[in-house]
Amino acid sequence: MADNITLTIDGHPVSADPSQTVLDAARSAGVAIPTLCHHKDLLPYGGCRLCLVELRQGKRSQLVASCGYYAKAGLEVHTRSPRVLRARKLVLEVLLALMPYSEEIRRLAHENEVTETRYQRTMHYCVLCGLCVRYCDEVKHTNCIGFVGRGVERNVAWVPPDRYDQTCRTCFECMSLCPTGVFPSNFGLAEV
Ligand code: FES
Repeated sequence: MADNITLTIDGHPVSADPSQTVLDAARSAGVAIPTLCHHKDLLPYGGCRLCLVELRQGKRSQLVASCGYYAKAGLEVHTRSPRVLRARKLVLEVLLALMPYSEEIRRLAHENEVTETRYQRTMHYCVLCGLCVRYCDEVKHTNCIGFVGRGVERNVAWVPPDRYDQTCRTCFECMSLCPTGVFPSNFGLAEV
């Protein structure tokens, strides 16, 4: 195991294993960063951008998804800078427009002081976080569901359709992962 390194998070030195992501290092140090598409048993995905943090080096700064960025010695991380809070609120406004009735998204929005969205509300049942698809692949190794379509048509579906009978009937573990809470009752709408 590599030696621990030290980075700073919100001005405080934090010791981390270099195999840890910035998100894991922050959470180990008690610093809260909101996430939607992150799951401890799955590879980093970087799909929702809710976990954005600001990295600063001299006058340069960049926003990165903390769930997929690995801790490095000397890294200066800010989790609540004005730039981060602006970006986080924007992401939440978009999510709120996509899924205005999702309890999880409403909770995240509330926690981050987002009460309204400037974007037109739509009634999607999927925010494309990929948790179900990735769990089916990386944990269950069955690949029963996958993404289909492009752009606004992008969706989750059984791939191929007969996998439902063969495998899903005895599993459905992916359902509890859905942050929208809508997935179970709509499973099958996007059957291909
Ligand atoms: S939790 Fe990091 S991008 Fe979704």
